[in-house]
Amino acid sequence: MANKEKYIQIYEVGPRDGLQNEAQPVPTDAKIRYIEALARAGHTRIEATSFVRPGVIPQLSDAHEVYTGLQNQTGVRYIALTPNRKGMENGLAAGLQEGAIFTAASEAFTKKNINATIDESIARFGDVMALASDAGIPVRGYVSTVVECPYAGKIDPEAVLDVCRRLLDLGVYQVSLGETIGVAVPDDIARLLDVLLKEIPAEKLAGHFHDTRGTALASVFRAIEFGLRIFDASSGGLGGCPYAPGAAGNLATEDLVYALHRSGYETGIDLEALALATSGIAQSLGREPTGRVYLACKS
Ligand code: HMG
Ligand code: MG
Repeated sequence: MANKEKYIQIYEVGPRDGLQNEAQPVPTDAKIRYIEALARAGHTRIEATSFVRPGVIPQLSDAHEVYTGLQNQTGVRYIALTPNRKGMENGLAAGLQEGAIFTAASEAFTKKNINATIDESIARFGDVMALASDAGIPVRGYVSTVVECPYAGKIDPEAVLDVCRRLLDLGVYQVSLGETIGVAVPDDIARLLDVLLKEIPAEKLAGHFHDTRGTALASVFRAIEFGLRIFDASSGGLGGCPYAPGAAGNLATEDLVYALHRSGYETGIDLEALALATSGIAQSLGREPTGRVYLACKS
């Protein structure tokens, strides 16, 4: 195992956060090939799909087929979003290895995204956690809109802390901080982490920064200074969130891996193999992903 200080764990969210927001339908077997190529590139945590209402996120309505089509690979964990009892039941029926529950620090966003208030979402998650615990699988938590909400504007870090605390009390092993619309600059992340880290150890937090304005990578490096070592990224920079109009995809995994490796960090990911995985899914999408390092790798 790599030096703990210098090892960054990346959660690859391209197959979920990326594909959920792509206009072009992607065939199930192309998704499976993409996810398996990501695993071959060295990813050990891959968000494969979402067990959500198919009418709400039609792009991932083949969640069962995708998940059951994946070959188990040693050391690789396939994660899926499981926002309520039905989502976890459907996930478990597909052999789910790890679930993820998600809410937000903004009431308005939570309502649009999962049709619940923050309190209702936490109450629902009790059932999800109980099912996961009976099945012996871990669950990750997400808090969206940690800096700003597309409907409610700026968010108080104390509100984020409150929701993080509630998710951790429910038993999630980690909370991923969703900067959903990609407005944050490093100082926003510093202000947030100043508050969160007074109570929550850095090992329990991950950064999930969308890159709408090109500031996500700078925010990652600021978060590293605060001790965070876990980040979400989407290969090629695919995606966005259907309930955050105008938000671009996550930070591109290739951009993150390139910058980390050149800065002396290890990720276990092979950049060329990763770009190959992205190029495969790009063919199904019929469009060129926007990630800069991906484009540089191809030229
Ligand atoms: P609801 O409408 O409140 O659910 O949806 P309901 O309990 O009232 O049920 C209504 C119908 O949906 C019923 O069917 C249920 O069976 C069905 P009917 O009886 O009418 O035929 N149903 C389901 N079907 C399949 N799977 C399920 C499920 N649940 C109910 N799990 C729900 C509530 C949360 C399910 C819905 O609002 C939903 O699916 N939302 C998903 C939204 C989503 O996926 N958003 C994008 C992911 S989050 C994100 O991108 C942010 C993140 O990346 C971090 C960041 O960037 O900030 C994570
Ligand atoms: Mg996201």
